[in-house]
Amino acid sequence: MEKKDIYILAIESSCDETAAAVVKNGREVLSNVISSQIELHTIYGGVVPEIASRKHIEKINQVIEQALEEASVDFEKIDAIAVTYGPGLVGALLVGVSAAKALAFALNKPLIGVHHIEGHISANYIENRELKPPFLCLVVSGGHSHLVQVKDYGEYEIIGRTRDDAAGEAFDKVARAIGLGYPGGPKIDKLSKEGNPEAIHFPRAKVGESEYDFSFSGLKSSVLNYINGCQMKNQPICPADVAASFQKAVIDVLVDHSMQAVKEYGVKQFAIAGGVASNGHLRQAVKEGCEKNHVEFYYPSPIYCTDNAAMIGCAAYYEFIKGNFHDYDLNAVPNLKLGERV
Ligand code: KG4
Ligand code: ZN
Repeated sequence: MEKKDIYILAIESSCDETAAAVVKNGREVLSNVISSQIELHTIYGGVVPEIASRKHIEKINQVIEQALEEASVDFEKIDAIAVTYGPGLVGALLVGVSAAKALAFALNKPLIGVHHIEGHISANYIENRELKPPFLCLVVSGGHSHLVQVKDYGEYEIIGRTRDDAAGEAFDKVARAIGLGYPGGPKIDKLSKEGNPEAIHFPRAKVGESEYDFSFSGLKSSVLNYINGCQMKNQPICPADVAASFQKAVIDVLVDHSMQAVKEYGVKQFAIAGGVASNGHLRQAVKEGCEKNHVEFYYPSPIYCTDNAAMIGCAAYYEFIKGNFHDYDLNAVPNLKLGERV
């Protein structure tokens, strides 16, 4: 008998993107609608949770309708409703979770809550149909910096994490200090192309206990001190050199830890995920590291690196085939742990 195709409608609203997507059989993206709030938050220099929640409420139905329309499917054809239920901003998460619960109840379809980071990792499945666990994944976003061992679908072990700021957070803070505005990652990425990454030496932090843990707050302070020092001495700063040197310091640490883990865990495949994974210099440096260590390198297109709902639909598919569904009491869990099901 021919296998039935599975269509998942996925919703993501954990931060400042209201997104919905339709994903077929876990890896085929039929639509991927993203309504970004970046412009609204830019004037405040970062995401304002209250504004984010309000905007999600305004946009969510529109985005869902558009996702169905672009995928040319109707509610009847959908097999399950998936939604990010953590981690993230609680008010923002609640909008997506409430919409997903309402739809699942009204349509009498299964409901699947997805961990946001699991979504980011699963973004790698979209364009790499051959990729299957086990593999190692570096997840670097605005809120997270994790080195994750993906043992199987839905089975994860975090082997390294940030002790303080996430990599994306450091990009955003440094960008603000050199007057680039929010979100800083893409702006530093662009400006650094005109700068010299060797111009200023910023520290590469070593963290005690776990050799795979990260720390970016010292680096961020060191950049701020450098800028203050120049201002006090009335010396002009070259923003492109600061951007390039800072970015190199972040990437050196990320690649160094990643490749050490590749060697120790003896993996054959390595992937990157999250907003910072769209950074051109990081992608190139990880690619070179993987080639040197003879491991296959996987990375999502930039649109699947930053927040989107297609990645949530991919992750949900593997829960769907295991029959792992949530009840209508599913709640937003702002500090949800990876691998934990609440
Ligand atoms: O994954 P994401 O969209 O949201 C979170 O889950 O946090 O990541 C957003 C983060 C922001 O900090 C942004 O500055 C950073 O990803 N980012 C980048 C680039 N594009 C986005 N960082 C460095 N280079 C980029 N090209
Ligand atoms: Zn994210």
